[in-house]
Amino acid sequence: MTYQALKGQKAIVTGASSGIGAGVALALAAAGADVAVNYASSLSGAQRVVDEIKAMGRQAIAVKADVAQEDDVQALFDATLTAFGGLDILVNNAGLQQDAAFAEMTLAQWNKVMGTNLTGMFLCSRLAVKEFLRCGLKPGGSRASGKIICMSSVHEVIPWAGHVNYAASKGGVKLFMQSLAQELAPKKIRVNSIGPGAIQTPINKAAWDTQQALDALLKLIPYGRIGVPEDIGKAAVWLASDDSDYVNGQTIFVDGGMTLYPEFADGG
Ligand code: BGC
Repeated sequence: MTYQALKGQKAIVTGASSGIGAGVALALAAAGADVAVNYASSLSGAQRVVDEIKAMGRQAIAVKADVAQEDDVQALFDATLTAFGGLDILVNNAGLQQDAAFAEMTLAQWNKVMGTNLTGMFLCSRLAVKEFLRCGLKPGGSRASGKIICMSSVHEVIPWAGHVNYAASKGGVKLFMQSLAQELAPKKIRVNSIGPGAIQTPINKAAWDTQQALDALLKLIPYGRIGVPEDIGKAAVWLASDDSDYVNGQTIFVDGGMTLYPEFADGG
């Protein structure tokens, strides 16, 4: 049996019916965790992830909840704690884009992105923290009483024209995560972010589904390939495990070097 960094731990992954969230849920399960697979609309996607996790011999449940809604988030945590009897890891992954030229951006587009990407992290993290504080350190368990991972983006540092709502939400995630980490470190709760670059998922299909789009995208990625959800899953396992016990308040960019501003390699 190979080493399982998260053996026996319980996790919630929001937005886990597809894309990065599905990749993270599967990676946590492969590392030994039981996983609540949250979804907003695709029960069939969530069920596929649940089935794969169960096939690994772990527990999994699919739970519908809009992370921007307080009652939904409460129900997500109630269902998880009832099924698993505890919580060690929250991955705040749910996120979306509603792109528009700034002058055309509607308040609904602004609010939708802020609601899911930022308010959702607040609502989910608050309940996770309450549970972590209630239980404290578990004998024989993780060195931390809880771990929170926020799915940010390279756009927490790279400005993004045409996506002002999204970039603003991810900039917000940066200081949300850091402030939470600062407040909760004395309670042995670790809070970190992952900043994915271009990962091949439904959210950015237009950026990779034609050769022309892919060629343009690859100019922004020094490492020369688009990412896959497994790249993010591996980082999430590490950040959730005691292998990163001294890592707190950091964003780990998993981006093939996108944040190295490759346009400057032969310019500037
Ligand atoms: C966005 C993707 C984009 C990537 C790199 C992500 O946060 O969701 O649409 O391809 O950043 O720009």
